[in-house]
Amino acid sequence: MASHKLVLLLPVIVLFTITTGYVMASPPAVKAAYWPSWSQTFPPSAIDTTLFTHIFYAFLLPSNVTFKLEVSESTASLLNNFTSTLHQKNPPVKTLVSIGGGSSDPKLFARIVSNKGSRSIFIDSAMEVARRHGFDGLDLDWEFPKNPKEMVDLGQLFKEWRVAIRKEAKSTHRSPLLLTSAVYFSVDFQWDETYRKYPVASIAKSLDWVNAMCFDYRGSWDTSATGAHAALYDPNSNISTSYGLASWVRAGVPGNMVVMGLPLYGKTWLLKDPKVNGIGAPATAAGPGDDGILTFSQVVKFNKENGATVVYDAKTVSTYSYAGTSWIGYDDSRSTTVKLKFAQALGLRGYFFWALSYDSEWEISKQASRAWIIG
Ligand SMILES: *[C@@H]1O[C@H](CO)[C@@H](O)[C@H](O)[C@H]1NC(C)=O
Ligand SMILES: *[C@@H]1O[C@H](CO)[C@@H](O)[C@H](O)[C@H]1NC(C)=O
Ligand SMILES: *[C@@H]1O[C@H](CO)[C@@H](O)[C@H](O)[C@H]1NC(C)=O
Repeated sequence: MASHKLVLLLPVIVLFTITTGYVMASPPAVKAAYWPSWSQTFPPSAIDTTLFTHIFYAFLLPSNVTFKLEVSESTASLLNNFTSTLHQKNPPVKTLVSIGGGSSDPKLFARIVSNKGSRSIFIDSAMEVARRHGFDGLDLDWEFPKNPKEMVDLGQLFKEWRVAIRKEAKSTHRSPLLLTSAVYFSVDFQWDETYRKYPVASIAKSLDWVNAMCFDYRGSWDTSATGAHAALYDPNSNISTSYGLASWVRAGVPGNMVVMGLPLYGKTWLLKDPKVNGIGAPATAAGPGDDGILTFSQVVKFNKENGATVVYDAKTVSTYSYAGTSWIGYDDSRSTTVKLKFAQALGLRGYFFWALSYDSEWEISKQASRAWIIG
């Protein structure tokens, strides 16, 4: 009897293994970018959708009084235009609305996630707005939960959000909304003496994937030396993309739920001595650009207009350029390609750019789309 059952079960087990193996190995790759809604010069119609699978609308904010997403009439027509334009394109891309962003108030999200009532109001409002304006999904960009309690609360939010999404999909017979989150480059971190770690169990169960923000490691807050702000490797610290991405996987988030962030912008410094011009060279101030930031298209223009020397640094996997005392650390097609290979070797799901409109004639976006081998 027992052995008879085993014989019957064996093909089922093999089939199950093959099927789940297949499913786990091949959720569709993510080639994404955030679209800054304030970028006047770059309407949704200008987006080349052959290069992307998902575009994130950046950003909507919850009201700090009602905890609901407040959508003015003009924002509503922009949201509608965004989703209908991108869905009508050939090929169409999926659209997600991202809530929060780097300049939103982190304390507001802490309040929202702190109790069930406010979480529920926020979740319902986000889903209602996503559906009303034709989005395929939702993204939360809270920068950042500041202590272990806020991380636990965030995990609770994700769990309840997933339950609500399943329920809505079932009752409306529609595909469930996607649910993602923009997160710090590493799964745990210590700032202001406070150690905190993302709620990995909840994330692995509740989200479609996380967008790890693998950039901004250096910037105008430290003008003493130049730096590679999105270095793949750093021999002297754990502040690097390789460390951060591996930390997510090591903590138990499946690689195919991790998406690598890539910057389409550089960070600039003024060199103390133009002759000492490597990574880590002494600097005196932030360089060209608003707060020492130049978009990739501005970097290309700066390099050309100033006859800058451009150097690829294999140690960090980054690119820098300098002209006179101006110094820029950034990623170009070459460093981006090496990072993509790293991410693929780690089994990650894909990549995203901050931000779509910062590229130069789609140069890096095109190279990335070619370099990501869908296997
Ligand atoms: C809510 O936001 C407004 C402006 O956006 C601000 O003036 C006010 O102080 C905020 N209230 C709270 C409780 O954070
Ligand atoms: C989106 O807005 C642009 C500019 O206002 C307009 O030309 C275009 O027709 C709109 N597209 C859709 C699908 O609403
Ligand atoms: C880097 O992280 C590892 C654990 O992942 C830790 O053992 C090591 O001390 C860290 N190194 C630095 C320089 O912080």
